[in-house]
Amino acid sequence: ATERTLSILKPDATRRNLTGKINARIEESGLRIVAQKRIQLTKAQAEKFYEVHAQRPFYNDLVSFMTSGPVVVQVLEGDNAVTKYRDVMGATNPANAAAGTIRKDFAESIEANSVHGSDSAENAKIEVAYFFSGLELVG
Ligand code: CMP
Repeated sequence: ATERTLSILKPDATRRNLTGKINARIEESGLRIVAQKRIQLTKAQAEKFYEVHAQRPFYNDLVSFMTSGPVVVQVLEGDNAVTKYRDVMGATNPANAAAGTIRKDFAESIEANSVHGSDSAENAKIEVAYFFSGLELVG
C-alpha cells in the first residue's frame, strides 16, 4: 500500500554536502520526496523528537549531535515506504549495514549515521506531523 515515512538527513550529511547524493539514492529506490525543508533543530525540539530514547545512555550525545548543524526533514511516499526506506538506509550501525545502503556508503558512526527513518507506519504519522503541517503536504 502507498504510505508515507519521515526522513531526516542528519547534520553529518548536511555538513559534508551529501543532500543531493542521498536524495538520489531515495529517488532511485522509487520513493518520492513529497515534502522537504532544511531546518536547525533547537535542543527542545530534538529532545522531544527523540523522547522515546530519553533513558538511553546515548540520548544526551544524540541531542547535541542533532542540533550541531542543519538537518533536512522530508516526507517520503511510496509503496511500503516505511520498510522500503529502512532497507535503503541500512542498519543503524554502519558497521553492520549492507552493501549499497546509504549508511554503509555515507555514515560516519552509529551516532552520525546520516539519516533517520520512521520505524513504523504509526510512528511515521506522528513524526510527519511533528515537522509538517497539512498545508505543506500535497499528494
Ligand atoms: P535513529 O534512527 O535516528 O534513532 C536513534 C538514533 O540514536 C540513531 O539513529 C543514532 O543516530 C543514535 N544512536 C547513537 N548511539 C546509538 C546506539 N548505541 N544505538 C542506537 N542508536 C544510537
